[in-house]
Amino acid sequence: MAKRSLLVGFGGFLPERVVTNEELATRLATSDEWIKTRTGITRRHLAGPDDSATSMGAEAARRALDYAGLSADDIDVVLVATSTPDQAFPATAVRIQAALGMTHGFGFDIAAACSGFIFALATANSFIRSGQVRNALVIGSEVYSRIVDWQDRGTCVLFGDGAGAVVVSASDDESGTRGILSTHLHSDGTTGDLLYVDGAVGQPDKSGHLKMSGRDVFRHAVAKLSSSVDEALQAEGLSYADVDWLVPHQANIRIIEGVGKKLGLPAERVVVTVDRHANTSAASIPLALDEAVRDGRIQKGELVLMEALGGGLTWGSVLVRL
Ligand code: UT7
Repeated sequence: MAKRSLLVGFGGFLPERVVTNEELATRLATSDEWIKTRTGITRRHLAGPDDSATSMGAEAARRALDYAGLSADDIDVVLVATSTPDQAFPATAVRIQAALGMTHGFGFDIAAACSGFIFALATANSFIRSGQVRNALVIGSEVYSRIVDWQDRGTCVLFGDGAGAVVVSASDDESGTRGILSTHLHSDGTTGDLLYVDGAVGQPDKSGHLKMSGRDVFRHAVAKLSSSVDEALQAEGLSYADVDWLVPHQANIRIIEGVGKKLGLPAERVVVTVDRHANTSAASIPLALDEAVRDGRIQKGELVLMEALGGGLTWGSVLVRL
């Protein structure tokens, strides 16, 4: 029988510098009131000159390994979800391997924007279930402060920087109920122009800035995340009432509350960090998970539903019994 993938370690890293809405309002035509009502965001952490997708991801990984009681020697694969790598290549994952002192195993990056952590976790699950990998480090690490246009109030106020990581391990307990139950991934490139980065190393003449049609992405998020949670539960023959926790991608409190309401979950069963972190893209779910596991809200054995939508558009879910 295929092995189950258990989430056994959790870690997060947020850069030191905190920027409030009020501070942004001193240099942009915006207000704390607008940002708070439209998004739920009050502040965000922004990377300093020494912070990078590699440095933040490596620190989150160290904390997750420490939580799991494992060392880098135990890890077979490093998967990094990021759309803000330090370099086009080598992958951030191999830079993190090196930072952790690993010369064994393998690593690669996954580019699925804000859904990246869901895609990376699903990939780790497949490696583990196939028997190819025993322990995986799955990391989301992002420095969106380096790709937003700081003159564009419609986007720059929405994002923050940070990294989150989980250690995923194969369970030998074949009759166990814990572990990843199902993963569902989707993408539709015909909606690619709703949320994208204008250029990259292959197109150096472009701005390199994030562009978003906010209202359209919002509409897609509400519809697609709603069908995503149904898909995840139906695949396992579970109902809304079975879900103990929603750990969603943190883009906008209105989207998060919409999905929480659909599931009939009380607000205290929905993990929210968007108020303090803003949107950290692929880092948002592992950061939220780390916070809620460490403060004792999410307990072993509880059913956790994670979902995300991002540029691509990409979207999907992971259902896990912790
Ligand atoms: O993580 C990836 C997935 N991303 C998302 O899920 C984001 C989805 N979209 C959203 O969360 C929302 O669409 C936003 C938060 C981005 C925008 O909220 P909205 O309620 O859709 O506002 P809007 O874009 O329709 O803009 C409303 C007004 C506009 O002014 P007019 O044209 O009505 O005069 C904007 O120019 O608000 C204006 N505006 C601002 N005003 C003050 C836009 N940004 C700002 C700002 N401060 N920062």
